[in-house]
Amino acid sequence: MSHPLNQTLPDSYTIGRITITPNIILAPMAGVTDSIFRRMVLQIGGCGLVSTEMTNSASVSPKALKRHHLLDYLPEERPLTMQLSGNDPDLVAQAACMVEELGADILDINCGCPSPKVTGGGHGASLLRDLPKMSRVIKAVRAAVTIPITLKFRAGWDEQSLNYLETARVAEDAGVAAIALHPRTREQGYKGSADWSRIAEVKRHVRIPVIGSGDVTTAEAALQRLATTGVDGVMIGRGAMVNPWIFLQIAQLRRGEQPFEPSAIDKLDLLLRYIAMCRAEMPERLALNKLKQLIGQFSVGLPGSAVLRASIQRSATITGAQEHLEAFFAAYVEAELV
Ligand SMILES: Cc1cc2nc3c(=O)[nH]c(=O)nc-3n(C[C@H](O)[C@H](O)[C@H](O)COP(=O)(O)O)c2cc1C
Repeated sequence: MSHPLNQTLPDSYTIGRITITPNIILAPMAGVTDSIFRRMVLQIGGCGLVSTEMTNSASVSPKALKRHHLLDYLPEERPLTMQLSGNDPDLVAQAACMVEELGADILDINCGCPSPKVTGGGHGASLLRDLPKMSRVIKAVRAAVTIPITLKFRAGWDEQSLNYLETARVAEDAGVAAIALHPRTREQGYKGSADWSRIAEVKRHVRIPVIGSGDVTTAEAALQRLATTGVDGVMIGRGAMVNPWIFLQIAQLRRGEQPFEPSAIDKLDLLLRYIAMCRAEMPERLALNKLKQLIGQFSVGLPGSAVLRASIQRSATITGAQEHLEAFFAAYVEAELV
């Protein structure tokens, strides 16, 4: 029997002519959702769309791409969103053309990044303070490419200037095909909690598909969000770093199946596969940094994992880090067996 929440829940939505199914998607995360992470999530299953990390439009040129690899991908990741930041309409439009040429299926414009490095340049959440400019950027991109454009944004710059409804309407009028809202403000960063009633309000306010993002960390919560807010899709970010199986678990819960619960061996296997993929595709120093970032979230909640995180952070080589992981999980497997 399917899950009771699933009776009337949508399981897909469309962006332009592209059907996103299932409607549970991976949030873009700078430093995390590179091609390797995206493929790892897609291989597990249950994820309907993935996105590149945010890329500054000014750094999208053949020469720059050879250096930063942020827009590298493999065909099996499609449909693929590529996300750009920027605030100069011509420059973003130029980058958008390049992104279309690279094979992106969807182009996403970032209007949510709270980092001072990004907002300082007028990019990311900074555009929430200048909606006419945001509109000009969208329109310039629309005129330059044929792929659909989406917008990812926050609820406003701060609590005194909440403008998510207006932002959603301006974006819709400028021609975006879908929007994704992370309902914190720029000032909040990641503090407090994501207020999904704002996402539900946006859904009632526009005709285009609305995706909700923020604090979804369990399969049950994802279905609850779909059921109670009317959103077209749910985006999962940090929850996928802690538990890359979450997309699969949501699909299983929908079908009325018992969601897969990874054992210690499954977790170690996944980490070793991740390390192997990183080592094959990047220099050791970068692979080690990637592992350090993933383990910071992935190990949260595992008994004794603070010690593991500290020893991985101190590791100077990927082999050393792998030894710590294997020792930690060996003890964990034993504990699971007793
Ligand atoms: C490490 C990290 C990097 C992020 N990078 C991006 C990014 O490049 N582009 C973007 O639109 N949002 C970015 N976000 C925001 C997420 O996409 C998401 O909206 C936010 O984390 C809330 O969802 P969550 O609670 O499921 O993580 C990032 C978040 C984190 C934690």
